[in-house]
Amino acid sequence: MIKSFEKNIDDLKFQIELGIKETIKSNIYEDFNKSDLEENRFANDCNDLSEIKSLEELRSYIENYDKCELKNTSRSTVFCDGNSKSKVMLIGEAPGNQEEVEGKPFVGKSGKLLDKILEFININRKNCYIINIIPWKPPGNRNPTKKEIKQCLPFVKKHIELVNPDILVLVGSISAKSILNKDLGITKLRGKWHTYKDKELEVPALPIFHPAYLLRRPNSKLLVMKDILLLNRKIQYKE
Ligand code: URA
Repeated sequence: MIKSFEKNIDDLKFQIELGIKETIKSNIYEDFNKSDLEENRFANDCNDLSEIKSLEELRSYIENYDKCELKNTSRSTVFCDGNSKSKVMLIGEAPGNQEEVEGKPFVGKSGKLLDKILEFININRKNCYIINIIPWKPPGNRNPTKKEIKQCLPFVKKHIELVNPDILVLVGSISAKSILNKDLGITKLRGKWHTYKDKELEVPALPIFHPAYLLRRPNSKLLVMKDILLLNRKIQYKE
């Protein structure tokens, strides 16, 4: 009895450390507007990326891209982290404060929780590759708009094409909806494999809860662990 009380206190401390208070304030998930993705979700904003043949070229193209408002308000372009030769590619939503400072995805509080979850099946930054749908931090950590997602999606698709992973993990609702082109919430999408299709490419894709969501709803940690086991099984099957 006493032990489980202490464990609860520890869990609470852990969540506060990882920024549950900030996450509640920023209200990322409640704010997400379904209709943001409804129209022309995959419409290209006229970028022809067909000439881009390497990740370095893509990085330089994105760093020099000036049509997205977010580029002008953010301090850095967050392109990727991890190993581009990995089988597993994770796609998050958009950088936050710490990501903008370090120029890498998922290095802040929710990133720490994501690392902990992945560690469970021996995944780390040396054997996975991580990007975001949006490479620039939205002001005040607001959700990206429909227009911003539309502008950045061709970069993400090109990124997937260049890395050519065996498995995609879609971290959070915005990532899952945008990549799978589906209007279902993350609760409906998670827990099973989907297929990401683009031209010749077909990649199994697993949507999971965003770690920031888990900080707000610790009870969902069990579901994320179930999903991580699904991921582990798929990785082993691919080996
Ligand atoms: N949340 C994301 O989706 N991506 C990051 O890089 C950080 C927080």
